[in-house]
Amino acid sequence: MKKHIETNLSHIAAFAPFEDVAGASHFPIYNTGTFDLKKQDSSNGGKIYDYTRSDNPTREMLENLFTQVEGGAGCVCTHTGIASVALLFETVLKANSHILVEADCYGGTFRLLKVFKEKYNITVHFADFLEFDEMEKILSENPIDLVLCESPTNPGLKIIDLKSVAKLSKKYHALFAVDNSLATFISQRPLELGADFSLFSTTKYISGHGAVVAGAIVAKTQELADEIHYYANAHGRSQNPMDVYLITLGIPTLKVRMAEHEKVSIKIAEFLEEQDYITKVTHPALKSHPQYDLAKEQMDYIPGVFSADFESLELAEKFIENTKIFGEKCSFGSPDSRVEIPAKISHASFSKEELEAIGIAEGTVRFSIGLENIEDLIEDIKQAVK
Ligand SMILES: Cc1ncc(COP(=O)(O)O)c(C=O)c1O
Repeated sequence: MKKHIETNLSHIAAFAPFEDVAGASHFPIYNTGTFDLKKQDSSNGGKIYDYTRSDNPTREMLENLFTQVEGGAGCVCTHTGIASVALLFETVLKANSHILVEADCYGGTFRLLKVFKEKYNITVHFADFLEFDEMEKILSENPIDLVLCESPTNPGLKIIDLKSVAKLSKKYHALFAVDNSLATFISQRPLELGADFSLFSTTKYISGHGAVVAGAIVAKTQELADEIHYYANAHGRSQNPMDVYLITLGIPTLKVRMAEHEKVSIKIAEFLEEQDYITKVTHPALKSHPQYDLAKEQMDYIPGVFSADFESLELAEKFIENTKIFGEKCSFGSPDSRVEIPAKISHASFSKEELEAIGIAEGTVRFSIGLENIEDLIEDIKQAVK
C-alpha cells in the first residue's frame, strides 16, 4: 500500500534496514565506528556493515526514509547541509566542468562555488532562472554538466518553474539539482518534477528545532545514487548516527509545523505590507508575489520565510535592536522567529552589485517565522520600530 508522506514520517523505524529485536519505537543509535564482520548473519537483513563512514544502520534508516518521500533511488545523509552541496559538486563536476546556477543562491553555496572555481577551474555561469532565453543561451553555448537552483530562492524568494528547468537541462544533457531546504519534501518533490537530485539542509524545517546541523542528498536513479554513496565514503561526507537520531525527533511533526509556519508568516507579512515604513514585502503566499500562482501549484505548503524592505537600513537595525522576540540569527525553520539582514549575515560574501542583482536592498530584512502567537509577534514589531 502506497502511504502518504506524513504516515511514513510518523513511522521512521519502519525504514530501518532490519527489525529491532525489542521492537523499539525509536530504532537504536548504532553509535559505533566499526562492526565485527565475523558476528553478522542474515538477521540484520543480509547486509554486512564494516565501518560507519561507509554505512551505518541508523543512518541507513533515515536515508531509506528520505529516498521514499522524495521519490528517489538512494540517498546519503551528510554531516551538514552544505556538505550535501559539496557532495553534489564532488560527484558531478570534474576539473574544468561548467555549472549553471540561479544567481539568487544561498551564500554558503556561493562561497563553495568560488572555492571550486579557484581550486578546480570550474566555470560558474549565473543566471536568472525566470529568464529561459538567458538560460538556454548559456546551455547552448557551453558544455554545462550541472544546473542548480533553490526554489523558493533565498533570500529573494523567487519561485522557479522546476518542471521547465528540468526539461531544459535534459535537452542539453545537463544534470539538474534542486536545493529543497526551504520548501522540504512535505511541500515540494523536485524528483517528481524531473530533477536528478534533491538536496537539503536538515538543520532547518526537517529537524525543526534548531538543535543540530545536517543535510541529505537524494538521487533519482540507482546509478547516481551509487555515485553519491561512493563519493560520500571517499570524501567522508556521511552524517554521524547520534545526529541522525536528533534529526528523527523532529521529523514526525514536519507537516503540522509547516502548516503553522505558513499560517503565522502570512499574517505577519500581511501586517507588514500595511505599514508605511515598509517599502516591499516578498512572500510567495501573498497575491502581490509575482509567481503566486506557480508557488501555489508547485508547493503544498509555503514556507514561513519572507523578506520585508524597511525604508532605511537604520530603521531595520533599530527594529532588530529593539525586538524582544525575534532573535538576530541566521538559518530558518526553527520554532523561534528570527530575523537577519542578508547583506550583513547570510549573504555577506556577496558584493553590493551581486546583492542588487538579486533584489536585496540595504534595508531588506529576512524573516523566518516560528511557532509563536501571532498577536505577540505583531505587538513586538510595533514596539520595536517606535
Ligand atoms: C538553501 C540552503 N542550502 C544549504 C544550506 C546549508 O546548510 P547547513 O547550514 O546545514 O550546512 C543553507 C543554510 O542556511 C541554506 O539556506
